[in-house]
Amino acid sequence: MKRVTIVEVGARDGLQNEQKALSTGTRLEFARRLAECGVRQLELGAFVSPQWVPQMADSGPLIAEALALQAAGRFPRDVEISALVPNPRGMEDAIRTGVSSVAVFGSASESFSRRNINCSVDESFERFAVVMRMAKANKMKVRGYLSMCFGCPFEGEVPETRVVKLAKRMAALGVYEISIGDTIGVADPKQVKNLVAKLIKAVGARKLAMHFHDTRGTALANVLASLELGVRTFDSSLGGLGGCPYAPAATGNVATEDVVYMLHRMGFRTGLDIEKLISLNHWMTAEIGHELPSRLGRAGTPKAKAPAKR
Ligand code: HMG
Ligand code: MG
Repeated sequence: MKRVTIVEVGARDGLQNEQKALSTGTRLEFARRLAECGVRQLELGAFVSPQWVPQMADSGPLIAEALALQAAGRFPRDVEISALVPNPRGMEDAIRTGVSSVAVFGSASESFSRRNINCSVDESFERFAVVMRMAKANKMKVRGYLSMCFGCPFEGEVPETRVVKLAKRMAALGVYEISIGDTIGVADPKQVKNLVAKLIKAVGARKLAMHFHDTRGTALANVLASLELGVRTFDSSLGGLGGCPYAPAATGNVATEDVVYMLHRMGFRTGLDIEKLISLNHWMTAEIGHELPSRLGRAGTPKAKAPAKR
């Protein structure tokens, strides 16, 4: 299959870790511009505590406004807007906005679960089960994240068997997709291939998405490793914005424009427009007040003409 789905997480994973909290209006404008670039899977916010993650405060009004614009035909209707939901309380807030797609987020490491969502892994799954029931009653789709699948800053190595077991547990909850997170960007392509092969056996390639942070420069190689095994959905952030506020030294996700550039050169289709993504990178650089780490943002696409075919 030559089609790859990009889940744009810059408006959530990206902005949640930026020192400068953008206004609701600027976040909405970012969403509008992402949609113009061709983004169709758009994670726009998080129904989490504003005490814990102030950058995601007002995700409710933001998402309600984006949905209202969609209903009025002033925002593309085929963009699927989604948001993180940690617990039933967050899900109540999500339902009030009318959003039809949410994501629960668990961890393969016990210590990170406690630091990130203030409960054990088992407790988090009990909460997710309630969220799933609420989703069913409201005809909503639920995605599932698993963090720290390749290593944890508090526990070190994370056994593959634990990740596979939790991915199966996530699938059993009824999520439509499981996003496997390298939250702190430690994974290498060999490790990725080993784990992804086991995950494919456990839940199937079509249920998997990969979520790489580029902390140590291996994210693009890890995308390629997963792609070679048949994964066709990847999370990325415009410009490589981002990180996780509860994972020390975590930096941004792999940059959307860098992934899209590689995929298009390899003959895959994503539906995204690379030149528009680069322009949006420059817009966001001005809004956020610092340069973004993506390579394409700096270098642009090659301007030299391709050599004539012989
Ligand atoms: P808590 O303090 O344990 O919650 O927070 P609680 O149930 O004890 O309640 C305490 C107060 O918080 C109460 O208010 C609740 O109503 C309120 P009070 O009665 O004191 O006025 N509360 C909430 N308010 C808003 N939204 C809610 C909510 N729940 C309770 N959903 C909680 C638990 C999960 C809310 C908290 O720990 C939290 O917000 N954590 C933030 C987690 C987060 O956003 N982390 C970053 C995203 S995860 C990530 O980046 C990884 C990922 O990208 C994948 C990867 O890279 O691996 C997805
Ligand atoms: Mg992340």
